[in-house]
Amino acid sequence: MRKRIVAGNWKMNKTVAEASELAQAIVQGFTGTDSCEVVLCPPFTDLAAVQQVIAGTAIKLGAQNMYWEEKGAFTGEISAAMLKSAGCHYVILGHSERRQYFAETDASVNKKILRAFEHGLIPIVCVGETLAERQSGRMHQVVEEQVRGCLANLTAEQVATLVIAYEPVWAIGTGVVATTEQAQEVHALIRDLVAKLYSMQVAEAVRIQYGGSMKPDNAGQLLSQKDIDGGLIGGASLDAKSFLEIVHA
Ligand code: PGA
Repeated sequence: MRKRIVAGNWKMNKTVAEASELAQAIVQGFTGTDSCEVVLCPPFTDLAAVQQVIAGTAIKLGAQNMYWEEKGAFTGEISAAMLKSAGCHYVILGHSERRQYFAETDASVNKKILRAFEHGLIPIVCVGETLAERQSGRMHQVVEEQVRGCLANLTAEQVATLVIAYEPVWAIGTGVVATTEQAQEVHALIRDLVAKLYSMQVAEAVRIQYGGSMKPDNAGQLLSQKDIDGGLIGGASLDAKSFLEIVHA
């Protein structure tokens, strides 16, 4: 049985004080559930403060990005070892905003994934097509290329451990959510591909989250689909009440 996973991607929001406050509200409202893992992914500057708040609870910490080099003269970058030492369990890699604004590619995401594993971090690997790619009928091909590129050179055990987030770019922050059928179709496609590249066993183990305008009022439906194992939540994760409603869904 795959354990569901709901992660809040706070993006570039919240000062240290605001992040502590939000994390406190989430801790207070979280009733604890064995069937769902909960992860908070604040900006780098808030990691320590959020870790303090969630210490001793079942809630886990994640980061939104990292660099693939071990350490050294890479001004402005953050390493996997640094994230691990800050208390992170997870790291989001290859988010579409990083691909769009910071020129990330499947190849660079792949290097980051390999490094993350070396340090015991679990990658949340984001894939998803743009509206133009969907409309031109290239959706399957685009998602397949991303999955193949990001997962290159990974062991079966690593793939079974990581999390894939399917995030159609046209649904992120737009309020336009994929229909349950649209989401389930791509999730099944990704799982089939993992089965083809690795094995049925790995495909059955890998968790695939949906992301893109997931909100309390659509989460239940999306999460009832057989290949949707959780959510990567942007906007709705910035409010404790709506985030917790999704978790409890
Ligand atoms: P959204 O963002 O929930 O605000 O659409 C999701 C994401 O980008 O991870």
